[in-house]
Amino acid sequence: MPYIAQSFIDDLPNQIDIVDLINKRLPLKKSGSDYRAPCPFHGGKNSNFAVNAHKQFYHCFKCGESGGAISFIQKFDNLNFVEAIETIAGEFGLPIEYDSKSKPVDPRLERYRTLSKKVADFYTNQLRNSPAKDKAVSYAKARGISGQIAKRFELGFASPGNKDLMLNFQNSEQDIADLKTLGLLKEGQYGDYDFFRDRLMFPIHNSKGNVIAFGGRAFDNDAKAKYLNSSESVIFSKSRELYGLHHARKYSRAMDYVLVVEGYMDVVAMHQAGITKVVATLGTATSAEHLLILMRTTNVVVFCFDGDEAGRSAAWKALKITLPLTKAGVTFKFLFLPDGEDPDSLVKKESAKAFEDRIDVAQPLSQFLFGHIKSKVAFDTIEGKTQFLEQVSVLIKTVNYEVYQQQLVEGVAQIVGQSVDQVRVIFDQEAPQPQEQPAVYIDTQANYENHEEVDFHDFSDHSDFEPTPVIKLSNMKALMSKMITLVLNYPILADATAEVRVRTIDNSEVLLELIRSAQIDENISQTELIKPFQNKQGIFRRLNELCALEPFLSETQAREEFLSILNSIERQQKGRQIKASIHHAHTLEEQQEIMQGILKSKRKP
Ligand code: UTP
Ligand code: MN
Repeated sequence: MPYIAQSFIDDLPNQIDIVDLINKRLPLKKSGSDYRAPCPFHGGKNSNFAVNAHKQFYHCFKCGESGGAISFIQKFDNLNFVEAIETIAGEFGLPIEYDSKSKPVDPRLERYRTLSKKVADFYTNQLRNSPAKDKAVSYAKARGISGQIAKRFELGFASPGNKDLMLNFQNSEQDIADLKTLGLLKEGQYGDYDFFRDRLMFPIHNSKGNVIAFGGRAFDNDAKAKYLNSSESVIFSKSRELYGLHHARKYSRAMDYVLVVEGYMDVVAMHQAGITKVVATLGTATSAEHLLILMRTTNVVVFCFDGDEAGRSAAWKALKITLPLTKAGVTFKFLFLPDGEDPDSLVKKESAKAFEDRIDVAQPLSQFLFGHIKSKVAFDTIEGKTQFLEQVSVLIKTVNYEVYQQQLVEGVAQIVGQSVDQVRVIFDQEAPQPQEQPAVYIDTQANYENHEEVDFHDFSDHSDFEPTPVIKLSNMKALMSKMITLVLNYPILADATAEVRVRTIDNSEVLLELIRSAQIDENISQTELIKPFQNKQGIFRRLNELCALEPFLSETQAREEFLSILNSIERQQKGRQIKASIHHAHTLEEQQEIMQGILKSKRKP
């Protein structure tokens, strides 16, 4: 077992938020600059236990227990040091660096954070002192932003000049080089120039409150780019940051819900109206990483979207990412605004109270799930109901949280007017057992989030049953990736039986080829194993990613894992074939006959 790199351990406290970490285990209440709760270590009713976000430290004033994130998890979750680190890294979606592959702590990180803060200060200063500031000030006013809220969000002004930012940092070559890396300075034909010009500036903070990037709003609605964002960098990744999270935590008493909106201005306007539990995805789709962060922050996530077609489709994407991640204790809701409104415009038109009422009556996830699919099919026909069942089952099967999955199935039964047993038939044929999706895999994010991910399911150009696009994206792909990861890490699993079974699985070419190579030499290296794919760029890249995911299982565990996934894939495939025959059945009678057949075969011992 490789050692976790010391550099990774040292930097861990900088990469996470201790308040976040503890709050999930022990609800904290803000009190002054600390967060408080009754002490979990010595018990007692008084809130003697304090967590300081700034120092990333906890301390009990009564019993004296104290320490940082790792020591908290060790004690609270009863884990050893390595397990505690793995738990924390898992919760924050950080890939653990092991000694053999470890990189030293990147000295650039601290430099970039410090520089970003200086840039934010420069822009806020410009909003006060630039000769051109009037335009920015009156724009902010026209949008209803008060001085207090502008200060809260450290709003700034990028003046119209080409080189104002550059000139401010010209004394340091290092700063200039770093500004280019962060995308704040650009190199042009006629020399370097400021990336943000003539814009209202929104610094983007990470959850700890460090400035890590910027967004800039043009003053003119017709500008070529209404918003510009600084580029992704080692300190800023859009899919991992939520604009306003730091402010939501800082200015809300409790995070009993979090509203997820689309824009910078929406967050600012909500604060202006007194609604502070709000974050924005930065012009990107909600990612699995976003969701994991939200689920550590609150028990009620309310997605807010425009009521128009684009809004519905964005909401649908969010729903699909959410389903596999649902878990006990966290609810998801969808709030659709009237056509043409966004939270900023609506809260101004109505009132904070009216908006909060809307939040209260937001649709539960299940209602949106059923309603949306129902609206896409001709539900009052047999064909429409079949389509409904098919589409809804594919999605419900991605739910790993068993109790919820059961509730959804019951909901489906009610909607189609059949018994839960009848509906279960379709589901059971395909649903993988939850224990077959072990926690050791770190690849949930890669599976559900990576848009460019190669679909291992797409390598065969024929298929006797046309799966709907949702099927492709769901489970099968994740399961296939897991099988591949296992073979890459335990080539010894590849044997003739596995080969025979995998051969019957649709679209399993990549896995099959790996199994064949691995049988030739069970000590084959990963590099050798994936070599045959090096000319297929997308596949090769994904295989390399999967190589990096070490499941850390014993050989026996790996074998068990491999076989149980294989079983599950075979079951799913069979289920799909059955569904296809139901789909092709011409009458309700035919359908019921098929269903009866399945039920009978299930009852046989
Ligand atoms: P919207 O177009 O909904 O803008 O983009 P908005 O937030 O309502 O902005 P205002 O009210 O016109 O000022 C939502 C988010 O998408 C990203 C930004 O993060 C924006 O807040 N976006 C939008 C961009 O990155 N670039 C763009 O050109 C437009
Ligand atoms: Mn807007």
